[in-house]
Amino acid sequence: MHILFFNPQGNFDDANSHWTEHPDFGGQLVYVKEVAMAMVDAGHTVDIVTRRIIDPEWPEFSAPIDHYDSHSPDLRILRVPCGGDAFLAKEQLWAHMDEFVAGAIDFYGSDLPDFVTAHYADGGYCAVLIQALTGMRFTFTGHSLGAQKMDKLGMNRINASDMEQRFRFSRRLAAERFSMARAYRIITSTQQERMEQYAHPLYSGAVDVNDDAKFSVIPPGVNTRVFNIERGEMDREVEQKLNAKLKNPGQQHLVVSSRIDEKKNIGGAVSAYVKSPEFSARAGLVICARGIDDPFEEIGRLSFDEQEVLQPVLNMISEAGLRDRVDFLNIKSQAELAATYRYFATRKSAFVLTSFYEPFGLAPIEAVACGLSCVATKNGGPSEIFADGSAALVDPSDVDDIARGLELALDNYEDLAARSRDRVLAKYTWEKTAADYLAIIGEGMARGREKGEPVQALDAGQRIKSYLG
Ligand code: F6P
Repeated sequence: MHILFFNPQGNFDDANSHWTEHPDFGGQLVYVKEVAMAMVDAGHTVDIVTRRIIDPEWPEFSAPIDHYDSHSPDLRILRVPCGGDAFLAKEQLWAHMDEFVAGAIDFYGSDLPDFVTAHYADGGYCAVLIQALTGMRFTFTGHSLGAQKMDKLGMNRINASDMEQRFRFSRRLAAERFSMARAYRIITSTQQERMEQYAHPLYSGAVDVNDDAKFSVIPPGVNTRVFNIERGEMDREVEQKLNAKLKNPGQQHLVVSSRIDEKKNIGGAVSAYVKSPEFSARAGLVICARGIDDPFEEIGRLSFDEQEVLQPVLNMISEAGLRDRVDFLNIKSQAELAATYRYFATRKSAFVLTSFYEPFGLAPIEAVACGLSCVATKNGGPSEIFADGSAALVDPSDVDDIARGLELALDNYEDLAARSRDRVLAKYTWEKTAADYLAIIGEGMARGREKGEPVQALDAGQRIKSYLG
């Protein structure tokens, strides 16, 4: 089969440029790349269709056609121009999606792919548009839904116009509603994501969460080519670097690694760590952040949003007198991250992710595949992934509960690390994810093409107003 992935935001290249350094280059790109690769490994042809960017600040994304060396030529990265040349954040893409889809159709001419998988609200909207024009069916994978983001950010009547200005919720919600209503199948990572997120009142009338024919729960997987317990050249480099750099190299550590984003609640993990002097004397804390060597020195050059997250974290560490117990690591690649996890696994350490909500939680499964034990938020995917009790699940809004989880994961390192790793390798691989997608795509293709109604207006502004009251 020939399958098109619509992922207009962020971008893709063989070097995985900018991963985790920008909000549009997060877990969604890992997901799309890995599912695409696993489909190609299963004998199919895949195009990831994204936006062409000709911008000196983003030099990696100017070629109209690109490849991953390991999967060329059956996996193509097609970059379609729209909205000019400069890089645009995902919130700025809405007005250009018609141009983007027209460009994709032009590229294929009469040789259209067989099926579309659409990612996030913007990819979903592209799929809605292409279906209206060509009849191609699509799956919709939301990754992160706007209604939950609105609620989490505390959107209300007073701040609504500022929030709209920044996040374009009126477009995003409308795109999500169209995508949900018209998708052949909606793919969620967990049952909880289906039942809780899609049941939000802002999606009522667009989708019925009890409609089994509409939803498939397909969990993502771990990239075991990178995240495993095999040591290699990178491990020797990382070991040398960390032995020289860490303040407490021989000790157990807590390893925090995520984007510097408010929703990841890094502050929650740090509050729990600094709370008890006995605990912080027993284990070191390491915070991995891409692109930042020493936040105490560099905070001024970070974005406003990053500063808002990191400044209180730095204050907590300084005020508790724990600067000599905490290290920051600037990790530059997935390979280096995996070797870093393995280094800390030899010190019986625990990975910590205390996000307010994790739709799935790829990072914890990557960490446990490398031998760490895990403390994860109980809100969202981790509570299904580790439903057997093989990780410490914590309430991210309760510092005492996080502290309990940190102790548990260090005290029971051997048992938890072994059990969680076995579970992840048995249940969460990209081969399985791709096979589940392919089964649905095969079914959908058997129904043939069917054109949807043209889309009149992409605007859920009135609906949002009524919701806010
Ligand atoms: O990469 C993970 C992800 O959920 C993406 O799907 C999205 O681009 C990004 O995080 C931000 O999501 P949101 O717009 O909901 O904050």
